[in-house]
Amino acid sequence: MSQAEGKRRSGDKAAEYVTEGSIVGVGTGSTVAFFIEALGRMKDRIEGAVSSSEQSTRLLKEHGIAVLDLNATGTLDLYVDGADECDRHNRLIKGGGGALTREKIIAEASRRFVCIIDASKQVELLGKFPVPIEVIPMARSLVARRIAEMRGQPVWREGTVTDNGNWILDVHHWQITDPVALERELNQITGVVSVGLFARRAADVVIVDGVVR
Ligand code: A5P
Repeated sequence: MSQAEGKRRSGDKAAEYVTEGSIVGVGTGSTVAFFIEALGRMKDRIEGAVSSSEQSTRLLKEHGIAVLDLNATGTLDLYVDGADECDRHNRLIKGGGGALTREKIIAEASRRFVCIIDASKQVELLGKFPVPIEVIPMARSLVARRIAEMRGQPVWREGTVTDNGNWILDVHHWQITDPVALERELNQITGVVSVGLFARRAADVVIVDGVVR
């Protein structure tokens, strides 16, 4: 099966978790684009979506789905999003597309987080994919120095400005044996907005190539 086919099957399968009349949290990325297509086919049976990025907002609107403000919806029943890496405990690296902060907010605000991936995203140990960290622009080099002290190799994703007006550091060469502890430690660094490690709030359900793992 091609990677694109695996993503499409996972996006379609996630649509089975959507309930009648609900408001769905929607992530960002090429896998989620397939989910949005599936959501578009059932748009008359849902109230709308909360979007994690300008990119997904555009897609949702193109499919005729109302985009709602999380402040007005309260807790959501369901959040569907992709990932860059997923370990066997459903802990994730996310943010390859730069939308990590809003993704984390919606994941946190949702009762159930369904992660949709293709088989290439499954790993034994997180960290081969660089960990994205969103930073306040003036703190970029301060945060980079702190990360270097933690034996990471931060690379500035130059030219990328997040939907929140911030910058991203991608941290290479971390073999992450304790993702919960690392996430906690990174969140303590002044200037860090959010961290692309989803370990404390891991996925509840993981769908791989269209099959629930
Ligand atoms: C977006 O910021 C990311 O968290 C995506 O969820 C992740 O990069 C997966 O993207 P694809 O579905 O395009 O592989």
